[in-house]
Amino acid sequence: MPISHIGVCYYPEHWEPQEWPHHARLMRDAGIELVRIGEFAWSRIEPAPGEFHWQWLDDALASLANAGLSVIMCTPTACPPAWLIQRSPDTLPVDHHGAPRQFGSRRHYRFACAAYRDEALRISDAFAQRYASHPAIVGWQLDNEYGCHATTRSYSDDDLKAFRAWLEHKHGSPATLNERWGTVFWSQEYVGFDEVQLPNQTVTEANPSHWWDFYRFASDQVVAFNAAQATLLRQRCDSEVWLTHNFMGNFTDFDHFTVGADLDVATWDSYPLGFLDQGWFSDEEKLTYRRIGHPDWAAFHHDLYRAVGRGRFGVMEQQPGPVNWAESNALPLPSAPRFWAMEAIAHGAELVSFFRFQQYPQAQEQMHAALRLSNGDPAPAWSQILTLRAHIDQLPAQKIDRAPVALVFDYPSCWSSEIQPHCPGAWQLEWAFHFYSCVRALGLDVDIVHPGSELTGYRLVIVPGTICLPPELVGELAASGATAVFGPRSASRDSDGRLPKNLAPGAVQTLLPLRVEAVDSMRSGAQRQIEAARFRGTVTRWYEQISTHLDARLSDDQNGGFWYQNGAYHYLNGYPDQALLVSILNQICDQAGLDVHKLDEGLRLRRLGGLLFVFNSSPRNRRFHPHQGRCLIGSEELSQGEYAVWLQHERNCD
Ligand code: GAL
Repeated sequence: MPISHIGVCYYPEHWEPQEWPHHARLMRDAGIELVRIGEFAWSRIEPAPGEFHWQWLDDALASLANAGLSVIMCTPTACPPAWLIQRSPDTLPVDHHGAPRQFGSRRHYRFACAAYRDEALRISDAFAQRYASHPAIVGWQLDNEYGCHATTRSYSDDDLKAFRAWLEHKHGSPATLNERWGTVFWSQEYVGFDEVQLPNQTVTEANPSHWWDFYRFASDQVVAFNAAQATLLRQRCDSEVWLTHNFMGNFTDFDHFTVGADLDVATWDSYPLGFLDQGWFSDEEKLTYRRIGHPDWAAFHHDLYRAVGRGRFGVMEQQPGPVNWAESNALPLPSAPRFWAMEAIAHGAELVSFFRFQQYPQAQEQMHAALRLSNGDPAPAWSQILTLRAHIDQLPAQKIDRAPVALVFDYPSCWSSEIQPHCPGAWQLEWAFHFYSCVRALGLDVDIVHPGSELTGYRLVIVPGTICLPPELVGELAASGATAVFGPRSASRDSDGRLPKNLAPGAVQTLLPLRVEAVDSMRSGAQRQIEAARFRGTVTRWYEQISTHLDARLSDDQNGGFWYQNGAYHYLNGYPDQALLVSILNQICDQAGLDVHKLDEGLRLRRLGGLLFVFNSSPRNRRFHPHQGRCLIGSEELSQGEYAVWLQHERNCD
């Protein structure tokens, strides 16, 4: 794999044509190699139905190509123009309350709208016919951020029709649906599929299996929308041209693994400060990491999207300065843009593309920073790109190794935790992140894997409370010989949403003979305290009372047992805080023979082939000197927002 490319998102339609060659030269001279264009350009290309104005985009492409830049072209389907909506208002999504959402921003379409799918393919094909063989184009981005602005699920009459057809295809008969959903409860039994409604406007909560199927249906619409564009582009493009989509952070509304299966590379949009501000983090964390981001947030998504891209991923939009969309929009530390880019590279990113080249002085994102100010002068991030380029050029190309730890992540389980949270803070993404963060605090690299993945070769597998676990995963795990840790709520539902016949944790009981008899769902502020010699902390949110002949390894201040072990398998029957979880994982990792470094707060490590990267997000200066290796970049003492790269061995260098 080549070491990562630097890219930028560029909107030639925002600037005068005579500026394009100058912009392109600036990019090239800064060491930028890739330019993403076109994702919001539909109204300029086709200002009226069937009337195409290609010349300006031909010229913009020529300016970039003449400067030696490569291009990622986008299909513009995230922003259908006003005339299309006027002609087909049925394209518009309908919100949870049944109100149509209007034209005037973006993503104003429904995935299930067949007429819009045809329009999206028509414009994508027009782009492909024009540019598929353009020599500067190395990849295509399909659409932009599927599902952003709560657009995965729509509740129109037409969506209802499509949902009923989907249900019929899945269940075959109303009797089967009744049996799988348990509709005898509250007298909801259906005689025909035409009696089933959407689950959004019920008097009180709808049947959770009804919701779960609706989430699945909506996810399948995204998969089909993406697959249709991918098929079309593959027919038009050469085989070495890759296809991608730019996914988002903190977002689980559709199954990204399934969408990713139709792409060559998964890319995502990394805005560490925006998501810190509006994420689940404590006020203390929000202040500590205000100008650099949480030490694990971007890393978690890099590892997730590397799995979505089956090993190939990149960052399509990298935050360059303050964003405009969080409640407060901090000014990043000066080094932050290159810190984030280097972190992506450490996790194996093939590309880091900054959003955007120049700040546009008008419209919704006029307060969103860029690499250049709105008047064309360099913005604070510009000089960081130059340093980043110099640093990247010092790195030998590497192959990424399998990490020692795998963490299972499952989208349908995320949906289940949203549909029936049962406690505050139940979202499975946050639980997965919590386990991830605690393993990384021990200096370990993690691969995020979907539940169907092959597990051979991992020393430790973490199932962070995955609600719906395929029984085969348990067999795969046993065969792999890995140590395993299961979090609370693991395997607590089957794929229809039933509680398992043998109670939770379902199939995991073949590895750990225990079952959940009661759940203590805790309001915010409630906790169970654990005070043992090496294990101190609290259990919050969720606690399970267990029946088993195994002894609990710890007990809490309310006489509850916590942490059960059967040989190499561990079950944590509650949600431990960071300190407690780190100490438990530390011991489990030691037993699994993993090389653990308990890191100072805010310090993180990541290995890429023979390179070791060290990142400091803490406001305190941190020191880290590995046992072996030569420092290529940085030093052993790092201030907040600085990194070091050590060459430890040449084994994997190409
Ligand atoms: C992304 C989006 C971009 C831009 C950016 C601002 O979500 O793809 O078009 O809006 O956010 O941070």
